[in-house]
Amino acid sequence: MEWINLAYLVSAILFILGLKGLGSPRSAPRGNLLGAVGMLIAIVATLLDKGVMSYTWIFAGIIVGSAIGVVMAKRVQMTQMPEMVAIFNGFGGAASLVVALSTYSIVSGGNTTWAIALVLSALIGAVTLTGSVVAWAKLQGYADKAMTVPNQGLWRAGLVLAVLILAVLFVRNPHGGGFYLFALSVVALGLGILLVIAIGGADMPVVIALLNSYSGLAAAATGFVLNNYGLIISGALVGASGIILSQIMCKAMNRSLGAVLFGGAMVSEDQMTSIPGKEFYEGKVKSCGAEEVAMLLENAQKVIFAPGYGLAVAQAQHVTQELATVLEKQGIDVQFAIHPVAGRMPGHMNVLLAEAEVPYDKLVEMDNINPEFSQTDVTIVLGANDVTNPAARDDPSSPIYGMPILEVDKSRTVIVIKRSLSPGFAGIPNQLFINDNTLMLFGDAKAVLQDLTRAVNEL
Ligand code: TAP
Repeated sequence: MEWINLAYLVSAILFILGLKGLGSPRSAPRGNLLGAVGMLIAIVATLLDKGVMSYTWIFAGIIVGSAIGVVMAKRVQMTQMPEMVAIFNGFGGAASLVVALSTYSIVSGGNTTWAIALVLSALIGAVTLTGSVVAWAKLQGYADKAMTVPNQGLWRAGLVLAVLILAVLFVRNPHGGGFYLFALSVVALGLGILLVIAIGGADMPVVIALLNSYSGLAAAATGFVLNNYGLIISGALVGASGIILSQIMCKAMNRSLGAVLFGGAMVSEDQMTSIPGKEFYEGKVKSCGAEEVAMLLENAQKVIFAPGYGLAVAQAQHVTQELATVLEKQGIDVQFAIHPVAGRMPGHMNVLLAEAEVPYDKLVEMDNINPEFSQTDVTIVLGANDVTNPAARDDPSSPIYGMPILEVDKSRTVIVIKRSLSPGFAGIPNQLFINDNTLMLFGDAKAVLQDLTRAVNEL
């Protein structure tokens, strides 16, 4: 049907424009809307296709799915977003697996290309399904550590070999080889578990971006099974963007994709034993109170906020914006430094600060803000830790050496707001906290910022 393919083409263009829009916080809402309109057009076009035999189950699915989706979207906390994305990827993989198997049950036989598409749809769908469930469980804290199965490498190799053999057997005989396709799906479910179970919770966000990419590739393969161009194009877009995102995250964390997938924990056991404990900070940390910081701010001309994961945990974005507004009213130049992997998901700080209506032009990316720190009077580090750790720049023996950082230590004075001297995500101490120009302001970020705003107003 010509007009259906035309509708798919329009939705593909909208998807591409949508993805382009997602590249910057200012255009992201429009990009999101364009993508949603593209999806609506694709769904309507598919439903109007005369291949649809009955609408009853489809509408029942839409109603139940939409209801669950709305409840989940309303309930989810911003800090739980990676878990939500993980489980959505799993659903995507499950859909590809189920479509592949049910299509085979109905059509039961086709040419070699069709058989290869079925194998890919079932294989990638099954790996994505179980891999995503394991990723979700790890993020929920049910299985946080990197778990090693005895002879893991051998098991993985064995399962991959079994998949290859079953795939060849099925493709050579798609008409009578249904058993091989179903057996391959079961083995692939096991493979998904084995591939993700060994990866530490710390690397999970990268794995989720990768599983997102897999869910797209599975959908593209399903598109070949169903001969649906809309699915092929949108699946390929998801596949490509997921891979690009995984690469960006790995680069910003100074990890290779191979190290994430096969290297186990972020900090090796050798490095773990050489990481200093509490003695690292003993007698070297200077702490201060809100009034002291308010006085420093009173004399400042340029202030930068460097937010991190703690800002999200404390939900302190609104009170941060309140303090920024008070400072700006006093003629102080205020900016926000955005590190690409601050927080726990891509764009985490942008999303949080946009929610508090911080103007987009105040959010400055790492490469652009770094030269500014040396001309900054006060930098306030808000629940950030690893992304400000000078060891990543200066100490070749550090597990995070090479990771690009916000060079907050170059400011005249650095105020670090966090609850304790506990490490961040990488589990290592931070030299910044004992630098001469650093003052620690201990407490929950939201409560501390409220005190600080009050103190600034009272001066
Ligand atoms: P982290 O290094 O994880 O440090 C966060 C700090 O926030 C902690 O040290 C914690 O110290 C503090 N904190 C927690 N709750 C707080 C609260 N209520 N009030 C004030 N402070 C609070 O965070 P970061 O600097 O944003 O770095 C992100 C890390 O995550 C990097 O290592 C990065 O590689 C990793 N990572 C990021 C991503 C993405 S895509 N963003 C993906 C995977 C991994 P206290 O407990 O002492 O308060």
